Amino acid sequence: MNTLLSAEELAHRVQSLGETITEHYAHVDEPIIMVGVLRGSFIFMADLIRQFDRPVIVDFMSASSYGDETVSSGVVKLKQDLGENIEGRHVLVVEDIVDTGHTLRKLRTVLEARNPASLKFVSLLDKPSRREADEAADWVGFTIEDHFVVGYGLDAAGLERNIPFIGVMET
Ligand code: IMP
Ligand code: MG
Repeated sequence: MNTLLSAEELAHRVQSLGETITEHYAHVDEPIIMVGVLRGSFIFMADLIRQFDRPVIVDFMSASSYGDETVSSGVVKLKQDLGENIEGRHVLVVEDIVDTGHTLRKLRTVLEARNPASLKFVSLLDKPSRREADEAADWVGFTIEDHFVVGYGLDAAGLERNIPFIGVMET
């Protein structure tokens, strides 16, 4: 395993993302709804939320593309929906990585239809060179090259989520 982003680099960046996002919502008095996209975002979200200094409600949803895990088919299915009603609420979706952009597009379409007061996306990682859908997160931790990465919540066939840094598997 080669280290792409160390635990220290991740911690520093997540702290500064937390500050930026806190500032963005400074004028919002009611709790924002922070939505983790399962499963890859769970560690990022756990760290980010502790750097977010505003009232916040936590919810989760799950989406997956058909086909094998490393190649997105472009057909994204909602597997688990929110518990909260988001109409008129401020929603921040937390993603692990934006790759082809199909997942982000699907989530945006589904959530926009429910008329939230605002809808923003934060992704720890971004691989713009792989984009197929014209989508972008509002905030990105790190823009990376086209490597398949694991750790800090991201998996390879379900494993490696517990690695405390972002690594590239040796081939
Ligand atoms: P997209 O729909 O192609 O943007 O894919 C988004 C999802 O694919 C992410 O939320 C991840 O679950 C998965 N994914 C994409 N690239 C990687 C990677 O390098 N490592 C682990 N999972 C990835
Ligand atoms: Mg994911």
